[in-house]
Amino acid sequence: MTHDRHDALMNAARRHLIQNYRQQPIVLARGEGSVLWDVKGDRYLDMTAGIAVCCLGHSHPKLTAAISAQASKLVHASNLYYLEAQVLLAQALVSRSFAQRAFFCNSGAEANEAALKLARRYQQVVAKAPDRVTFIATEGSFHGRTLATVAVTGQEKYRLNFGPLPGPVRFISYGNLDAAREALQDSRACAIILEPIQAEGGIIVPPPGYLKGLRELCTRTGTLLIFDEVQTGVGRTGSWFGYEHEGSAPDIMTLAKGLAGGVPIGAMLATDEVARGFLPSEGEPATHASTFGGNPLACAAAITVIDVIESEGLLENCREASKYLWRGLHHFVEKYPGLAREARGRGLLLGLNVHRDAAAIVTRCREKRLLVSLAGGSTIRFVPALHVARQEIDEALEILDQVLTERTEMINDSTRA
Ligand SMILES: Cc1ncc(COP(=O)(O)O)c(C=O)c1O
Repeated sequence: MTHDRHDALMNAARRHLIQNYRQQPIVLARGEGSVLWDVKGDRYLDMTAGIAVCCLGHSHPKLTAAISAQASKLVHASNLYYLEAQVLLAQALVSRSFAQRAFFCNSGAEANEAALKLARRYQQVVAKAPDRVTFIATEGSFHGRTLATVAVTGQEKYRLNFGPLPGPVRFISYGNLDAAREALQDSRACAIILEPIQAEGGIIVPPPGYLKGLRELCTRTGTLLIFDEVQTGVGRTGSWFGYEHEGSAPDIMTLAKGLAGGVPIGAMLATDEVARGFLPSEGEPATHASTFGGNPLACAAAITVIDVIESEGLLENCREASKYLWRGLHHFVEKYPGLAREARGRGLLLGLNVHRDAAAIVTRCREKRLLVSLAGGSTIRFVPALHVARQEIDEALEILDQVLTERTEMINDSTRA
């Protein structure tokens, strides 16, 4: 019966959905903590957390209660009015970050779109520098799928055949301060946008001093610094925001993914000074807006996420679990030198970079009921819930160990043949 249902849903999916990502052939029905079940009742250990979204795991009782309480109070009323939950969330975010102002939307791409628009408006209206229109972005980056955000995404495969794209955009190599110094000398540079850790690009941590160096360069040249913290934000790296590791605050920061623990939301935070680019004069309408952005349901969920991260000590757990998981991944580099190249990342944004067969390893893990995902084509990504337990990490490492053994044997067999 459940198998029939699985087959029927798979057939309907193949007929009616426009493919989203590279989809594994399972149909998920429910989840609890770090575990998911499909419609057949099969259990999966989830180290993807909805691609770094479900930071409290699945069906966290406090998040479920907050969503249902808010749903019975007010789901939506529009930004024609001030909304209690939205104002409280703005306060919660600014009090934990460099920013004084927040704008809410519904996804990471939308938050970045808002950031790019704000940067242009700031330069043109506030800084009175109308020639500053060029965006500097980094090779290997990922910023979303809208036209402007693919335009600043430094991976050709996301831009291919979507042109002409908004610009001008100049790409520089990630982690290279000399390249940034050279690019930021351009008097037409509007803003530089980058991730504190490149996530989709393969979990690339920049060298120490890079983010701090960028901050100094931007301040000196009048270029705005935008940190895309869609994946690194909200505790993922073991601090509230990725930029804190170098104490180098941006002018604009974007958040999404983990912010509301799975309820769609995006946020763009900015300093008072930069936010002036969007702030209308008295009596004028807003210069940027969203129908759903900052709706009470998403904001109530986000307030609860922030609350639970603090009350349950999840930043501390993230840092501790990170060390444990990283050691486990690093051990594979020693055990399988022909296959595993490097353990990388920070907090619970970790990956095992492999020499080959990354997609096949992800598939084989799923067949063995472990969900992990790919980052950048050759990195097996681990982004579990921030409360992930040691025994869950052990279980995940045990399955990956089996898969790496199998793969190594296959590689050895094929080289012998
Ligand atoms: C760093 C970064 N920016 C932006 C995005 C786009 O976010 P969304 O898919 O919510 O539009 C992602 C998604 O993976 C991301 O990792």
